[in-house]
Amino acid sequence: LILILDFGSQFAQLIARRVREQNVFCQLVRHDLPLERVLELRPRGIILSGGPASVNEPGAPRCDPRLWESGIPILGICYGMQLAVAAFGGQVVAGKSREYGRATLTVLDRNTLFQGYPLESTVWMSHGDSVSDSAGEFEILASTEQCPLAAVKHRRWPIFGLQFHPEVSHTPHGGQILANFLRDVCGCSGRWKMQAFVEQTVARLREQIGDSRVICGLSGGVDSSVCAALLLKAVGPQVACIYVDTGLMREGETELVRHTFRDWFRADLHVVEAGQRFLAALKGVEDPQEKRRIIGNLFIEVFRQEARQIPNARFLAQGTLYPDVIESGGSADGPAATIKLHHNVGGLPQELGFELIEPLRDLFKDEVRKLGLELGLPEEVVWRHPFPGPGLAVRCLGEVTEEKLAILRKADAIFLEELHKSGWYRRTSQAFAVLLPVRSVGVMGDGRTYENVICLRCVQTDDFMTADWSRLPEDLLARVATNIINKVKGINRVVYDISSKPPATIEWE
Ligand code: XMP
Repeated sequence: LILILDFGSQFAQLIARRVREQNVFCQLVRHDLPLERVLELRPRGIILSGGPASVNEPGAPRCDPRLWESGIPILGICYGMQLAVAAFGGQVVAGKSREYGRATLTVLDRNTLFQGYPLESTVWMSHGDSVSDSAGEFEILASTEQCPLAAVKHRRWPIFGLQFHPEVSHTPHGGQILANFLRDVCGCSGRWKMQAFVEQTVARLREQIGDSRVICGLSGGVDSSVCAALLLKAVGPQVACIYVDTGLMREGETELVRHTFRDWFRADLHVVEAGQRFLAALKGVEDPQEKRRIIGNLFIEVFRQEARQIPNARFLAQGTLYPDVIESGGSADGPAATIKLHHNVGGLPQELGFELIEPLRDLFKDEVRKLGLELGLPEEVVWRHPFPGPGLAVRCLGEVTEEKLAILRKADAIFLEELHKSGWYRRTSQAFAVLLPVRSVGVMGDGRTYENVICLRCVQTDDFMTADWSRLPEDLLARVATNIINKVKGINRVVYDISSKPPATIEWE
């Protein structure tokens, strides 16, 4: 295990990714984790992230000072390096040699971190402060023109510092530095595999849950499905899965959940058919935020009613992922964003009265998919595109009615089927149809039509915060359009959305 102490860097999560790419398990933790807790976790090494603060400010975030002489290998990145040098009496100065962007690094010592590293290469700098003097405690391993102490090593302790960012792609050989630190300094074998994660997590869940019962909310999405599969593996007969059919689901979604969990995993699956309740609550409502609010509240109410029917339930399992933890500010006091607030619709509040279990908290999306396959979930579930909590309600612009939902569901299914058949589904991040509350004139046979418009939306993205529209092949788009117009009554025109995010969002409402 490698611990990453988070000082609020925008790149902290990226460091974690890079470490995992070396098949070494790591966890992002608060920067001020006390030494006792660190020792309990028995890490082979510690990475200190960068951060927006300046070590010379009085309230600047610090780690437990006892870490420096604990003997645990430490790699400080940017702010982390400045902290290490300052801890040993070195000087960190502001402003003088501010550096943002690419710089040329000259390696002076190719023994430890820079084994196999080019003598001259590009690195990415992003810092205001820098180390001007290491008080004779550190050796210089590499320099740039602006920054003579770009990489340092302590003379007695296994403590290293990098002023540049090895984790970003603009530092092309950064992975090599991390690999050298992990393998040669920390002695990590690089054999961390999903199988090991499953075994460790299953053992931990069994211990934590004992013989209590656990409720698992299923949404049909990847995260909740993998979370449920993991719990079923750990404490199968004690798990009750609840799936709320809001009537706002895509075609075949409820059947897929039933088939996967009831028929295949033999789980105690409670499907709550609540479509009519949701439709009634949405009657006459046109405002998107109002729709979200109504759906979110009703979802919680329906879920709570069903959960009450399950005797002796003590725990509630949720498929919270690593990026969710970061985005909701769980890891540190750093610059945690609240950008995704509205995306919690469809989530459950804490005051439901259960103890929360979040077994996927340390994983990234691609790792969750790997885990899902490892646990025997079908590819169809594991590779599903994300689907918003309020479901088709935010893709049926304006008032939601049963008729409109039926049209949208059918068009959406045709689009997704064509994407699957052509192999494009896996190459795109999210694809769906939107029913526009607009009518346009058309001609079919000898007659004039005056019907609604379907818009197709398909995007590529890594993190859903920014996205670009997918350049789908013209013949694929043509096939989808023809099929929709021929097969879906009420639609006479299909358009393709070519806006990127920002300024547009992925969803239309
Ligand atoms: P936007 O439309 O903001 O969407 O670009 C980014 C991602 O979030 C999903 N999304 C939601 N997910 N509840 C959710 O659970 C919501 O209310 C919600 N709104 C958007 C959207 O599908 C996309 O993946």
